[in-house]
Amino acid sequence: MNFDVLKDKNVLMIVSGGIAAYKSVLLLRELTNCGASVQVVGTENSLNFVGKATWEALSGRQPLFGTFETPDSSKITHITLAQDVDLIIAAPATANIIAKAACGIADDLATSIFAAATAPVLIAPAMNSAMYRNPANLKNIETLQGRPGFHVMAPASGALACGSDGIGRMAEPHEITVEAAGLLSPKPARGTSWLVTGGATREYIDPVRFISNGSSGRTAFEIADAAHAAGGEVTLLGVNAEPAFNPGYTFLKSSTAAETAGIVKENVRNADIFIMTAAIADYSPVKAPSKIKKGEASISLTLDKTTDILAASADWTKPGAVRIGFAAETDDLEKNALAKLKRKKLDLIVANRVSDDFSPFGSESNSVLFITENSTEEFKNITKCKLAQLLVERAVAIYRVKHGND
Ligand code: CTP
Repeated sequence: MNFDVLKDKNVLMIVSGGIAAYKSVLLLRELTNCGASVQVVGTENSLNFVGKATWEALSGRQPLFGTFETPDSSKITHITLAQDVDLIIAAPATANIIAKAACGIADDLATSIFAAATAPVLIAPAMNSAMYRNPANLKNIETLQGRPGFHVMAPASGALACGSDGIGRMAEPHEITVEAAGLLSPKPARGTSWLVTGGATREYIDPVRFISNGSSGRTAFEIADAAHAAGGEVTLLGVNAEPAFNPGYTFLKSSTAAETAGIVKENVRNADIFIMTAAIADYSPVKAPSKIKKGEASISLTLDKTTDILAASADWTKPGAVRIGFAAETDDLEKNALAKLKRKKLDLIVANRVSDDFSPFGSESNSVLFITENSTEEFKNITKCKLAQLLVERAVAIYRVKHGND
């Protein structure tokens, strides 16, 4: 995920009176680490959970709690606070503050800011599960979700401060930061649908052993995040791989090459942009019905060729869709990758060099070539996040050219 969009942004963070306020301390930290300037506005009740000194030390600014606290007396505080910012984040948002915001009640500084907001508002609810499920609360959330500029994050399930277990936990600080970065990102991919695959297939030898490879799926997760942040409708197919956080895409799972082929066939017909990063086994053993027992000094496996999903998908893809593949090569990188681009009818192929000293699998950064039929671009030592951003930009550009609206 590209957090650069948060750099130099003015964020107003509303903190209401819930125990999850302690997690908002970490959120504040993460936002400032990304280069955002954060003004904290708390409700009076929030002071029961986290004190002024903590907010002040971490934001470098005086936190505000009352309607008549004015850092600049020439301005009307709640109006300037609500309108001179790039983003408002309410975390934690209690049932009470959500209800007030839904009804337009503005009886303190925090709720007056909701009422006067012109910037996007991101709300992270946090409350006990009975309060969350209360029909009045659900109705209030629905009202806010339907209000232009308002985005309400789903709370998580798990242990709650009241000792019970259930839905109502505030989203994790990192998830809120991802959502915030997504809201502030430009949306060049709006109106396009994406299918992205990532991970490594498992081909079973017997019920307990399989043949696989080291592809972690990280690149695919970064691509899915970047495409989602750019406004695309994303379906991510995780092949034995699952992202820690899903910011709002459709997530599908597969394990073997055959299953993956079936799911790609089913979904690629709806994709405007198809990116196949998954490392698919080229051969699969005939699976023994029960565990193979140790005995012989050596044994052999018979392997059958699997479907080349990317090549086969040329017949399943929507006309005019953008098709992107990856190539891992030990020798003749450019030549082999270009041959794959042609054989698999791709618009672009990302070529990775693999050697005894370097494998892109599981590594943080990578040196790659972006190869199209008539161009080659080289990117040295770029992070997977940067690679994803660049690839999403190129994919959208190719799509716009194909569809005549660049
Ligand atoms: N791929 C696929 N189905 C396969 C094998 C590969 O869809 N059975 C896709 C990969 O997801 C990747 C591209 O094809 O996007 C190239 O994969 P790679 O392993 O580099 O090439 P192969 O076609 O398998 O050729 P080789 O292993 O001989 O290099």
